[in-house]
Amino acid sequence: MHNAMQDAWASGVPYEAFVGRWSRAVAREFLAWLDLPAGQTWGDVGCGTGALAAGVLAAAEPRAVFAIDRSRGFLTVAQAAIGDRRVRFAVADATALPWRSRLCAAVISGLMLNFVPDAIAALREMARVCQPGGRVAAYVWDYRGGMQMLRRFWDAAIEIAPAAAALDEGARFPLCRPEPLVAAFAQAGLTSVAVRAIVIPTRFRSFDDLWQPFLGKQGPAPTYLASLGPEAQERIRASLQSRLPRAPDGSIALTAQAWAVQGTVSYRQRP
Ligand SMILES: C[S@@+](CC[C@H](N)C(=O)[O-])C[C@H]1O[C@@H](n2cnc3c(N)ncnc32)[C@H](O)[C@@H]1O
Repeated sequence: MHNAMQDAWASGVPYEAFVGRWSRAVAREFLAWLDLPAGQTWGDVGCGTGALAAGVLAAAEPRAVFAIDRSRGFLTVAQAAIGDRRVRFAVADATALPWRSRLCAAVISGLMLNFVPDAIAALREMARVCQPGGRVAAYVWDYRGGMQMLRRFWDAAIEIAPAAAALDEGARFPLCRPEPLVAAFAQAGLTSVAVRAIVIPTRFRSFDDLWQPFLGKQGPAPTYLASLGPEAQERIRASLQSRLPRAPDGSIALTAQAWAVQGTVSYRQRP
């Protein structure tokens, strides 16, 4: 079930503390995997606060990066953080990109594809604005298992309120597994499709460092939490805390797994 009410993306600052910081770490490995030469034009679809666009600037020496997102609030944070004239931001939807056909050598997306109701339409748009022989690629969290911070949150929430199972991103987003991702890329006409896991360490200084960002109302889990009264929030907090491994200094070492997928734009793709 797709429940857009739960997918609030408005305020970039709390998002950064929630998962933006971890997306930046995934982006580094993702870009190394793509291994594109310098001097290319990139598209970043659903750029949010700019985690992936910043990664492209740091790692790929791009000629230009075109970046869109539906959220003005996120774009404001991205623009303030990335003061580089090679990056051009715009408000747009992933299924109607404001770029000419074949503009980019690579069109990429971090942690967005599962939030678009028609992911195939978004992938076709990404392929349209990519040159033949160019790369379309994305990563999404492994919500069912390897994204431990979110997995443990939903396990705690479902224990306290079983109805939360319907909002659990592991259940809502069947796309976020290797086989459905490969199938979606193939259905969008991409060839030589490859998928891999990217696992990053997510180390929290304290339980508060992990919990406070859940109170920031950005994305499905924090939005769900904000819909509850203080007593239910406190029960979820206590249940989550009891599920986490704590080092003697109070820090919490988890890992986050994303699925990364890439495909090549066919020379037969219609412009
Ligand atoms: C989890 S955030 C990921 C942001 C960023 N790419 C990152 O890796 O940190 C999801 C982003 O997708 C954007 N988004 C969701 N649906 C969209 C759509 N249909 N078109 C454009 N952006 C969309 C949201 O506004 C949000 O910024």
